[in-house]
Amino acid sequence: MCGIIGYIGKKQAAPILLDGLKRLEYRGYDSAGMATVSGGIILKKDAGKIGEINSKLDFLGLRGNIGIAHTRWATHGGVTKENAHPHFSNTREIAVVHNGIIENYQELREFLVSNGFTFYSETDTEVIPNLIEYFMRNRSFEDSVKETLKKLEGSYAIVVLNENENKLIAARKDSPLVVGIGDNEYFVASDIPAFLEHTKKVVYLYEKDLVVLDSDVRVFNLDKDSFVKRPISDIEWNLEQVKKGNFEHFMLKEITEQTETIRKAVENNGKLIKEVADLVKKAKGIYFVACGSSYHACLSASYKFSSVAGMHVNVALASEFSNFKDFIIPESLVIAVSQSGETADVLGAVRAAKEKGAKIISIVNVFGSSLTRESDSALMMNSGPEICVLSTKTYTSQLAILTLLAYAIAGKYEEGKRKLKDLINYIYYLTSASARHHIKKLSEKLKKKEHIYLIGRGLQYPTSLEAALKIKEVSYIHAEGFAGGELKHGTIALIEKGTPCIVFTSEKTEKEVLSNAAELKARGAYIIGVGARKNELFDFFIKVRESEEANSICQIIPIQILAYQLAMLRGCNPDKPRNLAKSVTVK
Ligand code: F6R
Repeated sequence: MCGIIGYIGKKQAAPILLDGLKRLEYRGYDSAGMATVSGGIILKKDAGKIGEINSKLDFLGLRGNIGIAHTRWATHGGVTKENAHPHFSNTREIAVVHNGIIENYQELREFLVSNGFTFYSETDTEVIPNLIEYFMRNRSFEDSVKETLKKLEGSYAIVVLNENENKLIAARKDSPLVVGIGDNEYFVASDIPAFLEHTKKVVYLYEKDLVVLDSDVRVFNLDKDSFVKRPISDIEWNLEQVKKGNFEHFMLKEITEQTETIRKAVENNGKLIKEVADLVKKAKGIYFVACGSSYHACLSASYKFSSVAGMHVNVALASEFSNFKDFIIPESLVIAVSQSGETADVLGAVRAAKEKGAKIISIVNVFGSSLTRESDSALMMNSGPEICVLSTKTYTSQLAILTLLAYAIAGKYEEGKRKLKDLINYIYYLTSASARHHIKKLSEKLKKKEHIYLIGRGLQYPTSLEAALKIKEVSYIHAEGFAGGELKHGTIALIEKGTPCIVFTSEKTEKEVLSNAAELKARGAYIIGVGARKNELFDFFIKVRESEEANSICQIIPIQILAYQLAMLRGCNPDKPRNLAKSVTVK
């Protein structure tokens, strides 16, 4: 949701923090702020985008070798300068940046007000620096942070600055935080891209870890009430992956990276996929849990598990999982799918299933994320960092891994792998300039439309849901996906002359879905066909070759491109759609 970064070392903190903020902007982008220690704590913050705020306030004017910064996605309190982070304590001795939600902040605020504290923002965060200051009346800085954390209910990743101490203290619970180990310098941030330019050595903090960064790194676990050792990991991501290169936007860069990311997804996980396939076969009840696009990948997988492996699976939205958790037994297997590995709803579902003794397998992109640690086994997507708020390359990687898993369960892993590998060159074509040029003609026709409907049957049904999500979240055109047979049960009432309807076809479903398209056409719909064969019903046709189970991968790509182009034509920023954040760490 929000992005936080802290730095301590020999260099000037502000340029490092500003660069880090820009790389974290995908996590939240309604306000930003920075504080460094130079004499006292100097703090600058405002509402708006980082670039705009920097032009106005000049973050680089902040001096000092130690500092913290924040990019906000509002939860408590509107988008105002006062609500932007960092937040000061009353004496301005302490400043804090926070990602997460303090659920008992009203109670803590009342306690602090009754002890003479004043509040200047509507945020839940402001209780944190003030509680620290309150405890510092008779405790050390470190002990006061610990005492404060004991009082907090909810989720937090925080970094704390103290004007009198040459150290940073950071801590996490249910929100991500990772430490970067440089050469006589340390970084702490919500996500690795924030400091990737400076170091590839990281320490992933565990739940309720508190880290003290001064001339050393000391990790204390609040539950264990003692210092703990955490391993240093080397990360494989490189700087190019977090830069736009020649692309205007990360969304387009990440769409075109799919040739490579599918290849990685197919090649990297062989042994583990076969092991997971064995676990699936032994389990009594399989539950997929995920949110958003990852949920659509799971829904798609449920069709593949049925057609390829002859296996029934349950698919639950992670936020709805609690309604079904009573069916979980120790022999159940939960497969949690999440790009970030930090989605609060997914972690909640996984923890509920673990309490019942179930085994957890996860499919995750971000190494070291909470979900990888809380799973019995994690299949890594290896897609590299996804910076655009929308999932594109990670969605198709999830599909590739789940398709392989279905084949592995059926004892046909090699066949599945061959089929997916055969696609790689074709995916290159689907993202090429000429393919994009063709879709541009469609984007021009649709750019002023208010509604788009999408239909597909079988495997194409989850594709229609995902395609609708892509269009609406980035272009703000209302788009709804349906199973082809469902429209006539109500929604067909909305079809008028010229209403655009995207129809996904496949060899298996062609006859039926074309009948559904004919029903729409008879009501005046403008029909856009996506599939292997043109049909006279289509007013516009996007040819995508027949790829059986992998249709889900190939057919979504033209619609990712369409969504991108619609955003551009409608003046929307495709990398940072309004109201959204990349990793949703609140329930
Ligand atoms: C849509 C999108 C979201 C995520 C959802 C789950 O483009 O990105 O719907 O898929 O928030 O996120 P992860 O996969 O990180 O759990």
